[in-house]
Amino acid sequence: MFPRLAVVVGLGTLGLCATYGTIQAVPDVKWDFIVVGGGTAGSVLASRLTENPKFNVLVIEAGPTNEGVEESIIPGLASRTALSRYDWNFTTVPQQGLNGRSFTYKRGHLLGGSSSVNGMIYTRGPASDYDRLASVSGDGGWSWENIQSYLRKNEKLESPADNHDVKGEFDPAVHSSTGKVAVTLPNDLSPAVDAATLKASKELGGDFQFNLDMNSGKPLGLCWLQSTIGHDATRSSSATSYLDSKTRARDNLHIVTDTFVTRVLKTTETKGLTIRSVEIRSSDTSDTVVLTASKEVILAGGAIGTPHILLHSGIGDESDLKALNIETVLHNPSVGRNLTDHPVSFVAFSLAPNSIDLGPWANLITDPALQTQALELWKANRTGPYVESATRAHHIAWLRLPRNSSIIEQFGDPSSSGDSAHVEIILGAFAGTYAAIPTLVSPASRGSLTIRSSNPFDSPLINPGYYTSEFDLPAVREGVKSAIRFSKAAVWENIITGLVGPLANAPTDADIDAVIRNNTLSALHPVGTAAMSPKNASWGVVDPDLLVKHVYGLRIVDASILPYIPSAHTQVPVYVIAERAADLIKSKWHD
Ligand SMILES: Cc1cc2nc3c(=O)[nH]c(=O)nc-3n(C[C@H](O)[C@H](O)[C@H](O)COP(=O)(O)OP(=O)(O)OC[C@H]3O[C@@H](n4cnc5c(N)ncnc54)[C@H](O)[C@@H]3O)c2cc1C
Ligand SMILES: *[C@@H]1O[C@H](CO)[C@@H](O)[C@H](O)[C@H]1NC(C)=O
Ligand SMILES: *[C@@H]1O[C@H](CO)[C@@H](O)[C@H](O)[C@H]1NC(C)=O
Ligand SMILES: *[C@@H]1O[C@H](CO)[C@@H](O)[C@H](O)[C@H]1NC(C)=O
Ligand SMILES: *[C@@H]1O[C@H](CO)[C@@H](O)[C@H](O)[C@H]1NC(C)=O
Ligand SMILES: *[C@@H]1O[C@H](CO)[C@@H](O)[C@H](O)[C@H]1NC(C)=O
Ligand SMILES: *[C@@H]1O[C@H](CO)[C@@H](O)[C@H](O)[C@H]1NC(C)=O
Repeated sequence: MFPRLAVVVGLGTLGLCATYGTIQAVPDVKWDFIVVGGGTAGSVLASRLTENPKFNVLVIEAGPTNEGVEESIIPGLASRTALSRYDWNFTTVPQQGLNGRSFTYKRGHLLGGSSSVNGMIYTRGPASDYDRLASVSGDGGWSWENIQSYLRKNEKLESPADNHDVKGEFDPAVHSSTGKVAVTLPNDLSPAVDAATLKASKELGGDFQFNLDMNSGKPLGLCWLQSTIGHDATRSSSATSYLDSKTRARDNLHIVTDTFVTRVLKTTETKGLTIRSVEIRSSDTSDTVVLTASKEVILAGGAIGTPHILLHSGIGDESDLKALNIETVLHNPSVGRNLTDHPVSFVAFSLAPNSIDLGPWANLITDPALQTQALELWKANRTGPYVESATRAHHIAWLRLPRNSSIIEQFGDPSSSGDSAHVEIILGAFAGTYAAIPTLVSPASRGSLTIRSSNPFDSPLINPGYYTSEFDLPAVREGVKSAIRFSKAAVWENIITGLVGPLANAPTDADIDAVIRNNTLSALHPVGTAAMSPKNASWGVVDPDLLVKHVYGLRIVDASILPYIPSAHTQVPVYVIAERAADLIKSKWHD
């Protein structure tokens, strides 16, 4: 038995409620729910479940607290969380589709999880993605119409830090100002660039036609970006919003940080396989703590962390587990399979000198003196370029391949409907160029998450499987060509002089493909590793209510449950999953 010393690290205001830095410090409470992972989804659950004063909730987070972490708080510094104590420091396995390259694979390792380190882009995706989830799972509760209340509970639209008039940049009718996570439009920091981008949209029309709001359920066209940044120019993460100080002060909420969950364990019960216990082990001592929830253990470790825990717990493909000497608790070959992620390519355009005003921050990324100045401004009065993400992009174009595209004819259409984009192109000026970042948002390729040994402290094998399906590379190539087409609009005639890098010498499709294979990176949007499927389906890991199939007491609430990747950046879909999950859990356990 461990001594239960009350070594309280970051206090709530009163009594029992607190954030603890070690499991030994956590008081002996009868837990109703144990949430594994205080990330994007885990923080929502912590907040919503403890609205019921009868529920005692323990959240166990592997990383440290988010409080006071400047790299997370200041939008312009987000890239500095990479390969730090706020990152899991993962690397992918070599990607055949990328000439054998592997690359680092960032995941948030602090309260708020990846929402504390992400690019803050706020996208809901097309309505048809949610309708597909409803139809694939057989649960109409996941449809676009039925998740509207969760979007409203999640979003808190605010005016941007610079208070400029945002009329015409979005559709107020589709937004909420009563939720938790702050959302703002970009600040007016590069007016000449924004004006040229909008002019190009007007000149080209067609698929680049202006769309007032990409978050209406119908994203196609060129739109203003929206970000999870508050009016105060700070990142709004799941931890800053759902775990505000008032929530953290609740008597029935306990959070322990810097604590790694190694496995979930069978709990002695009379009925079938029940898993309501978690094992916490220290990597340097052999100290082990086992805690049990009276109602549910909820895994919210994310699309990498959750299947990692399941596999080490003996929940996975029996033959894979046997090969690693892990005893099978439940044979389910879907665990870790079907990992899906968005491949990101890159197109940069060279600019004629003095042809367009890039503003005083054009060389921010490379100039340390500008960076010092930017930080001073942010601290002085929340001005300067650090009020927004370092990408400094203000627009996104959402495009479909043409209906008669030979790519669709040959390989089919992985998107959820004619309203869904195949490719997203992020547009903006940074590092002295104009850049377009084409991302395939409807990939057909599937990869996997496996483990390399029976040691839970060994990092998992992350394989996004990029370009393993024939649809994907030609679709990205079309995205790159669309970006180049955008650069040919009349407005750019005396501004854009050409392409930067190897794309400038890529006359054929094969040449473009070779460049794409070399420059593809990840959008860091993995999903699908513990997929939802209909009740009684022969595949999948969770039922539509997110309870693990064939198990009592264990639920999964995070990005891993999405059976198809949204045509969107994934934080909003995760917020929707977590908000609805909280409702499902509350209604199951109401008294
Ligand atoms: C660098 C980056 C940029 C991104 N940009 C955007 C963007 O601009 N817009 C957007 O919409 N989406 C973006 N995303 C994706 C989005 O942030 C994620 O899809 C979403 O946050 C995932 O939420 P989650 O709850 O599934 O997992 P996470 O938020 O990652 O939460 C998992 C939590 O569980 C903890 N954990 C894991 N394993 C254990 C364990 N064994 N024991 C204890 N704790 C554990 C982790 O430390 C983490 O806190 C980005 C992601 C990254 C990494
Ligand atoms: C990631 O790497 C950095 C730099 O080496 C290190 O300081 C940090 O502790 C690592 N993160 C984790 C979670 O181990
Ligand atoms: C992968 O997902 C597809 C649905 O997209 C499903 O049919 C298949 O069974 C899944 N594979 C596994 C191993 O779960
Ligand atoms: C913000 O602070 C800087 C530096 O002190 C100052 O130059 C600038 O005028 C201030 N801006 C506003 C809008 O107050
Ligand atoms: C697709 O349709 C457009 C417009 O109808 C036409 O211009 C184009 O040639 C067609 N492309 C193919 C590959 O058939
Ligand atoms: C791709 O990268 C390899 C290794 O750096 C290089 O040799 C090759 O020329 C690159 N190809 C293209 C098309 O840029
Ligand atoms: C699933 O199977 C069980 C047992 O065979 C059955 O009672 C139940 O109705 C099925 N559920 C659905 C949604 O098909």
